[in-house]
Amino acid sequence: MTDKGLQRIRRFSGSREQMQELADALRAGNLVAIPTETVYGLAANALDAAACRRIFEVKGRPLIDPLIVHVSGPEQAESLAEVSPQARLLMERYWPGPLTIVMRKRPHVPDIVSAGLPTVALRCPKHPLTRELLNLSGLCLAAPSANRFGYVSPTKAEHVEAGLGDSIDYVLDGGPCDIGIESTIIGLADAEHPVLFRPGAVSREELSLALEREVLLPEPRHADESAPVDAPGMLSRHYSPQTPLELFPSGGMPPLSMPGHVVGERCALVLFARPDAHFAALPQAVDLFWLSESGQSAEAARNVFSLLRRLDEGDYAHIWMEQAPAGGLGDAINDRLGRASAKR
Ligand code: TXA
Ligand code: MG
Repeated sequence: MTDKGLQRIRRFSGSREQMQELADALRAGNLVAIPTETVYGLAANALDAAACRRIFEVKGRPLIDPLIVHVSGPEQAESLAEVSPQARLLMERYWPGPLTIVMRKRPHVPDIVSAGLPTVALRCPKHPLTRELLNLSGLCLAAPSANRFGYVSPTKAEHVEAGLGDSIDYVLDGGPCDIGIESTIIGLADAEHPVLFRPGAVSREELSLALEREVLLPEPRHADESAPVDAPGMLSRHYSPQTPLELFPSGGMPPLSMPGHVVGERCALVLFARPDAHFAALPQAVDLFWLSESGQSAEAARNVFSLLRRLDEGDYAHIWMEQAPAGGLGDAINDRLGRASAKR
């Protein structure tokens, strides 16, 4: 993690003067980490190509991976994209909230934001501090998750500080994120053929019902990760802790075997829900954790990235984690866990 001695980041809690300073900083082309209901974002003025380029540099993010632009509502969305009636319907139903909509972009949206694609991804976040900042600055804010590329997404201000504290000036602390995993992304560039680019808190079933047509899954990716595809950035390895992570099916038991694992090494075993009293005794070297007290996917989603970070800081040789029960938010959690555990 970052050496605290090198920290230059300042944590703001959102006083009137601070909000004004952040709006000014964004207008001047600086970066600000912002709270959203999903994860923390690393924001820049979306129409300032140089500021957006800094996002890629600071994150170590490849330029082929386009950014999501945060807007104050449908009106600002219209200024950046061609909004179809289907997109308008989803905005009215789900904004502000955890739904990103990919639409055809207008020409003045910088290529660096869209990675050269003819489309742009837009979302209207729900966190009150970020909504205030959007309104106060009058800007549209390009913001990917505020972490180094490929690492676990940040759901608290301290996660942003740990990863980016030596390279950015500000984090606006809005408390722990409510949802805890990134927004659902739907592709509506072709309104007749909606595609689910990334699962999230708004499910594919809900979206299909709202649009009165089936939202399809994208074609499977090629083995060649550098090839441009419809859903760039959906890399098979992502959200990954340093510690080797292995998954096991919901309701199953961990194999407690992993390539390279030496019996007796300290390991973390993470269940989906708090186990009952009859849970099997574990070897002494295995510490037990769970994602949810209540067994609810919403609670598990809120905790999953935070727990992965915490375990990564512990001196575990391996992490075993139970998948979420399938369906709804469980599918979105399993999508992230699948990428987090993908082999290098
Ligand atoms: O919840 C969220 O969406 C968070 C918060 C900060 O709002 N943001 C976020 O950004 O997850 P990021 O950079 O981690 O996700 C951006 C992803 C890209 O990797 C890509 O998969 C998709 O959004 N994306 C962006 N623009 C796209 C486009 N034009 N076409 C298809 N996919 C796009
Ligand atoms: Mg991300």
